[in-house]
Amino acid sequence: MRPSVFDRLVRPTLYQTHGGDAERVHERTLALLAGAGRTAAGAQALEQVRRRTLVPDPVRVFGIDFPNRVGLAAGMDKNGRALPAWGALGFGHVEVGTVTARPQPGNDRPRMFALDASDGVLNRMGFNNEGADALARRLQQARPGYPIGISLGKSKVTPLAQATEDYLTSLRQLHRYADYVAINVSSPNTPGLRSLQDGAALDELLQALVGQTRSLAAAGGRAPSPCWSRWPPTSPTRPSPSCSRSA
Ligand SMILES: Cc1cc2nc3c(=O)[nH]c(=O)nc-3n(C[C@H](O)[C@H](O)[C@H](O)COP(=O)(O)O)c2cc1C
Repeated sequence: MRPSVFDRLVRPTLYQTHGGDAERVHERTLALLAGAGRTAAGAQALEQVRRRTLVPDPVRVFGIDFPNRVGLAAGMDKNGRALPAWGALGFGHVEVGTVTARPQPGNDRPRMFALDASDGVLNRMGFNNEGADALARRLQQARPGYPIGISLGKSKVTPLAQATEDYLTSLRQLHRYADYVAINVSSPNTPGLRSLQDGAALDELLQALVGQTRSLAAAGGRAPSPCWSRWPPTSPTRPSPSCSRSA
């Protein structure tokens, strides 16, 4: 297949003008996309582009109507800054986050590495994000027109023993904007996070989050959003049956 204009021109230029730093390229791209949706005229133009680019391939999953099957994975727009632009690029849903209850800077740089040989990107970001409160304020103003998933993680400063309360704090701030909630217990970049995958710990966490989602939804007269957890294919364990039921 012939390389696209993006591969031949746009990406090399971006890397060249940003000293080969993958994170700076990412930030610049995000800022441009966010800027495009910031004015009313820009947002309107993006919505018109969206109507043309969106490939309609609707699918209903867990009661959520996705306009197509291609979504933007968590980590690209952690703070929900460029939501109108993702729709215009044809994405059928966006998973914002991973967000934590408290804002945090993440790991020291460099922490994002472009792997030329495999065309991949290595992620050692450490949940850098502006926090659940800032994301809630942004989502309150957004009208993305497609489903939003919200990926929740644990704040680094919160001890593992208080992890459940940390996730619940984010959930309370964000639940009303989430078509689904993704519970992140798989990042290797937050010390100890993966221990929350252990049977009893995961049971406790999921049951607390699912229970809270249901009571918040009932109080707001809405159907509860599904809670999902991404399970790493390399994990030696599998979620317990009670976790699968509670989620
Ligand atoms: C720089 C970077 C940051 C990421 N941040 C997150 C994150 O905050 N939360 C998360 O669940 N996944 C995160 N991911 C993982 C992506 O969501 C995705 O699973 C991964 O890039 C693999 O995507 P692929 O299956 O399309 O190759 C991140 C990935 C990268 C490269």
